[in-house]
Amino acid sequence: MSRIVLGVTGGIAAYKAVDLASRLRQQDHAVDVVLTRAAEAFVTPLSFSAVTGRPAYRDEDLWQGGESILHVELAHAAELVVIAPATADFIARAAHGLADSLLGSLLLSTRCPIIWAPAMESAMWQHPATRENVGRLQAVGQRVLPPGEGHLASGRQGIGRMPQPDEILVAVEEALRTPLLSHVRVLVTAGPTREYIDPVRFLSNPSTGRMGIAVAEAARSWGAAVTLVLGPTEVPAPGGVQVVGVTSSAEMFQAVEAELEHTDVLVATAAVADLRPARQFDHKVKKDELPNALELERTDDILAYAGAHRRPGQILVGFAAETDDPEVEARRKLQQKNCDLVVGNDVRQEGAGFGVNTNVCTFVTAHGAWQVGPASKREIGEEIMAFVAQRLGR
Ligand SMILES: Cc1cc2nc3c(=O)[nH]c(=O)nc-3n(C[C@H](O)[C@H](O)[C@H](O)COP(=O)(O)O)c2cc1C
Repeated sequence: MSRIVLGVTGGIAAYKAVDLASRLRQQDHAVDVVLTRAAEAFVTPLSFSAVTGRPAYRDEDLWQGGESILHVELAHAAELVVIAPATADFIARAAHGLADSLLGSLLLSTRCPIIWAPAMESAMWQHPATRENVGRLQAVGQRVLPPGEGHLASGRQGIGRMPQPDEILVAVEEALRTPLLSHVRVLVTAGPTREYIDPVRFLSNPSTGRMGIAVAEAARSWGAAVTLVLGPTEVPAPGGVQVVGVTSSAEMFQAVEAELEHTDVLVATAAVADLRPARQFDHKVKKDELPNALELERTDDILAYAGAHRRPGQILVGFAAETDDPEVEARRKLQQKNCDLVVGNDVRQEGAGFGVNTNVCTFVTAHGAWQVGPASKREIGEEIMAFVAQRLGR
């Protein structure tokens, strides 16, 4: 049983928070509900206290007086805070550290994990101000669940629905789990590399880094100290991990080489270029001076290097993005590169590979192979961490 604060803010989805509170109670958690003033326009404290069996607090209770100070007491007792639904307004106030309400004061006073379940119109969610505010919360290690797509209260379709209670419950479970990988140093490579021909032309691939970013997030949630070596991508890096930005395969190689000695687990998801131009021009080559054929040379193989130099006890996980039989290729890579696990995926399969948030994978180890997915990239990351924890005997 854990002590959870459920913060409810003033959006239409507030009624769904009653069901969430009830389900948290059914999982034996003690749930302290705190409503904002606007939330009370949608739901009553009575609905929550009826399902949680505990008092539900109103904003004005901040001023109740008495022996203890309510927001501090709740903040210190909480093992986890969940804000569902989270309005654009409340996200903005929390992102700027405003303590002008019971819930706002509590958030600033607590040091426990915080999960956000935003719910709002698409335009509000996509507004640059909200994007920036969400980024601020993530940058201090708070988890913002992505809102769902579909029918919105306004009658429009779009992104902005409160994440499903099931999804919130999974995030709650993850946040409350004893961090099995604390003191484990995980190095993740992610994204594409760019091999420049001249300052305006390069060879690259469609990787967005989403798989590695999801692995880094999963490792962080298992308590690991995570370093993410990230190639050029538009996808924002997660908070709470150390990010080393690189561009070329040579830079990625150097970054990994520098970190490897201090790494317990390497998860190499990056789509590193195998070839680069043998010659790089330092000025833009005029169109009519461009050669018809490019002379290419091989780049250094990062995973093979890590496999050849691995320390005893160090764990290596590779990825194999294939268009043929991913299991066969993954097994070949497992042996050739001296890995503990190779995750093969068929990039031509729907819902797998580059750019999408899901993947369908075959996990291959020396002892067997099994399929994981279709599942979100985050869930694939969780499976990898479960494998790592098992290998480390945790
Ligand atoms: C009918 C109605 C529905 C609303 N729904 C939402 C919503 O889903 N998401 C949101 O961010 N704001 C919504 N708002 C606006 C918030 O209630 C408003 O920004 C308020 O200041 C939020 O206060 P709070 O963040 O302290 O709860 C809604 C307002 C009204 C009147």
